[in-house]
Amino acid sequence: AVKRTPFIAGNWKMNLDHLQAIAFVQKLAWSLADAKHDPADAEVAVFPPFTDIRSVQTLVSADSLPVAYGAQDVSAHDSGAYTGEISGAFLAKLDCAYVIVGHSERRTLHGETDADINAKVLAAHRHGIVPVLCVGETAEDLEAHGPSAVPVAQLKAALEGVDGSKGLVVAYEPVWAIGSGQAATPQQAEQVCEALRVVLREQFGDEVAEATRVLYGGSVKAANIASFLREPNVDGALVGGASLDIDEFSSIVRFKK
Ligand code: G3P
Repeated sequence: AVKRTPFIAGNWKMNLDHLQAIAFVQKLAWSLADAKHDPADAEVAVFPPFTDIRSVQTLVSADSLPVAYGAQDVSAHDSGAYTGEISGAFLAKLDCAYVIVGHSERRTLHGETDADINAKVLAAHRHGIVPVLCVGETAEDLEAHGPSAVPVAQLKAALEGVDGSKGLVVAYEPVWAIGSGQAATPQQAEQVCEALRVVLREQFGDEVAEATRVLYGGSVKAANIASFLREPNVDGALVGGASLDIDEFSSIVRFKK
């Protein structure tokens, strides 16, 4: 089997300004150095607000810190009259390796459709940025359609016309588990992550499906991270609340299976 490097990512959402971001990333780097972190054991990433990214870039590049970073959203358009939007070209200029696309908060609070999310995946790829594509069902979806139907449909829709060789990370985030303190069980996460990998195999073939990291997100913390990573199809976590606390996030990135 192909070895996929676990991916541990903090989605800060609308928290931490650029000064707080600098302090946080510096502490995170110290903690990784302290623990003699081996990047082969886990890739660590943070997703700060747009206004922090330039500062994070400066710090990470000056000291070659082993911390990847990206934005929480990207425009489907490359430039032009789109007031308030941020293009993939801008993010690429700031060396963002990744961008979160289709987070459930964007879907529900900002009305993003599957078609919008597909356009954003394509936009990220046009600029050489790897999308971290989020899918997940609500509690009502789960009740009505069972565990994988909605995430699978969201993934298929988001991947229309996408070139699998351009890189992708998928994050399964059940909406009912986000910020609720009620994480999915590792078995629930595995079941859906496995179904998502089947979609990747159908769409892109074995090689891409085996190389693509599929994450779990939703109330991940230091106390439960290892239980998710023991599952064969869960390759990491997208962490919200617990990524804002330096001690908690440091423990998460130092997980031991
Ligand atoms: O993108 C991560 C997120 O939605 C999960 O949030 O606070 O449940 O870890 P949280």
